[in-house]
Amino acid sequence: MPERALIDGMPRTHGELRECVVLDAGREPVDERAYAQAIRRLMQGDAVELGRDHNAICYRAGLVATDGRPLAAVVKVPRMGPQRTNADTSFAWEARILASLPVAGIGAGPGLLGRVVAGGTHFLFMDEVPGRHPDPATHPLDAQTLHAILEQLYAMDARGLMHYDLKPANMLVDGTRVRFVDFEFARYRDVLETYTPASEAFCADYNVSGNPFFPGRSNVANFEFRALHFHLRDLAAAGADAEALIRHWLRARSGYHRRMAVFVAGLADSSATGMALAAGIAPGRVRDRLHAAAQHETMLADVFAQPHEAAARVERLLMAYRCAVFERDAAEIERLRQTIRAASGPDATRRGTLPGAYCQAVTRVVELVGRSS
Ligand SMILES: Nc1ncnc2c1ncn2[C@@H]1O[C@H](COP(=O)(O)OP(=O)(O)O)[C@@H](O)[C@H]1O
Ligand SMILES: [Mg+2]
Repeated sequence: MPERALIDGMPRTHGELRECVVLDAGREPVDERAYAQAIRRLMQGDAVELGRDHNAICYRAGLVATDGRPLAAVVKVPRMGPQRTNADTSFAWEARILASLPVAGIGAGPGLLGRVVAGGTHFLFMDEVPGRHPDPATHPLDAQTLHAILEQLYAMDARGLMHYDLKPANMLVDGTRVRFVDFEFARYRDVLETYTPASEAFCADYNVSGNPFFPGRSNVANFEFRALHFHLRDLAAAGADAEALIRHWLRARSGYHRRMAVFVAGLADSSATGMALAAGIAPGRVRDRLHAAAQHETMLADVFAQPHEAAARVERLLMAYRCAVFERDAAEIERLRQTIRAASGPDATRRGTLPGAYCQAVTRVVELVGRSS
């Protein structure tokens, strides 16, 4: 049932919507009356709820295209109250992001079907994304799913789109396919800004990526501390083989870094001049950094291809550390900082278990994540 507050708060005339205005059209032609009809059914309590979280409730919406075709649509309705984490209840930003995804070549999210306002409330219509949320007890992640997740994360990282909220409730797994919903906090960053002076402050963040030569944030880091950390923790607590899953994850990440190496090397040809202009430095210096960045990605790909126990340990600790900083758990932050230092310090390099460049990059991540606010 839709929340009473929503229904009661909507002005109606004899049970009819006074008006329904289309603010953003989507990928299918849909008539204003079709939106109004879907909203009316929703208010009558005839819609199946698909899920709810801090800012919204989503229902299956009986939406029909102008030519009469039924659409597998979901309608997102604002959820009022102190639990909100987003002050904006208009879905304007999310609609813009959803509309941009196909243009950007990102297949991770639902298509936009339209954004409308009726009786002072905004409604976001989008494609239904089939599948279930990952859950360590009922729907655990496996190697194939982790690969599919990294496919999507790579596509977004390569196009400069950060989702920023990759928790299980915003991920849907359908067989071998993984997709994301809830792009209300997503933001693009222009790759040309990679080496601008503002880049350093941008990297002082929970989501900072591990490549010091290609400073930026990564959806991989976000997924690791918003979802994978808890998934692994709960699996381990239940006596399942979390270690095996970490190794699957790192092997899948090896492929991600292999692709990233090709991507950043390609930027040296396609974008070095623009990046240099934006940063006020010589194109030659930008090219050198991009080549170093490609080398670093290749090194990561090699380290994770057959992950050594030491690398698996450090990566697991980093996930926990990002999470502790995100949760502002001071004691845990300090404990993990020391444990990571011990696991990736000069000893690890001397013993030959981890490359020096990897250990230095880990130290940089610990420092930058620690400055996140
Ligand atoms: N396009 C969609 N297809 C299927 N389920 C969806 C879709 N969008 C959202 N959901 C479900 O509704 C829940 C709440 O939607 P979401 O956009 O994440 O709201 P919030 O902004 O409050 O986090 C999600 O966790 C998910 O279960
Ligand atoms: Mg959500």
